[in-house]
Amino acid sequence: MGYDAQFRVWRGDADGGALQDYSIPVNEGEVVLDIIHRLQATQTPDLAVRWNCKAGKCGSCSAEINGQPRLLCMTRMSTFTEDEVVTVTPLRAFPVIRDLVTDVSFNYAKAREIPSFTPPPGLGPGEYRMQQVDVERSQEFRKCIECFLCQNTCHVIRDHDDNKPAFSGPRFFIRVAELEMHPLDTADRRDAAQEEFGLGLCNITKCCTEVCPEGIKITDNAIIPMKERVVDRRYDPIVWLGNKLFRR
Ligand code: SF4
Ligand code: F3S
Ligand code: FES
Repeated sequence: MGYDAQFRVWRGDADGGALQDYSIPVNEGEVVLDIIHRLQATQTPDLAVRWNCKAGKCGSCSAEINGQPRLLCMTRMSTFTEDEVVTVTPLRAFPVIRDLVTDVSFNYAKAREIPSFTPPPGLGPGEYRMQQVDVERSQEFRKCIECFLCQNTCHVIRDHDDNKPAFSGPRFFIRVAELEMHPLDTADRRDAAQEEFGLGLCNITKCCTEVCPEGIKITDNAIIPMKERVVDRRYDPIVWLGNKLFRR
């Protein structure tokens, strides 16, 4: 059965803005993005929202709903009671462009900093051989839809903009872990993870894992194993001696 929901949506741009209240019909089975689209169609034609697939796969419609980082297209209206005010605001960790649309280019800059897959020299396409267990481990990380909800929720940059230059964030810790654990990757990414990508700033709060719509175990399967590898490298006496003798 339909009803009228109370929506509170942030409207504004880089110079500032405010929450605006709307009363808007809701039909059974709808998600928050349906309601935002109905607002555009009936009351606020200039409301800016980024979306694409409406299936939880493109990662475009990230925003905050009642203060929680969520995908607008995957948040069912049945999550809320009919008399609950639903507050929709843009991602907090990134600069606002307009209304619900933020500038997430920070993430693309961080992606470019990570050295790409480095197979052994001379290995041609078709000559790659991997154990199924290694394939499965990569596949978990490859499920990432780049919604950046994990980046948005991590307190290291959410509350401290000045940490951004030194911190790649959980989405890129899984990228580094994926490459580091890849049996055919020859690059050693452990020092870079710690020193350039800011792995040491993560204090394992696991908020990133909690908001990941793909259910990737970011902290347990990527961050903690990477931290263990960094520690092994630093405190293994053989590695320590090797570094002393052979480091250029
Ligand atoms: Fe989104 Fe999860 Fe990828 Fe982070 S790891 S960007 S939360 S899909
Ligand atoms: Fe941030 Fe996730 Fe670490 S939320 S502090 S990257 S465990
Ligand atoms: Fe693609 Fe929501 S519109 S994930």
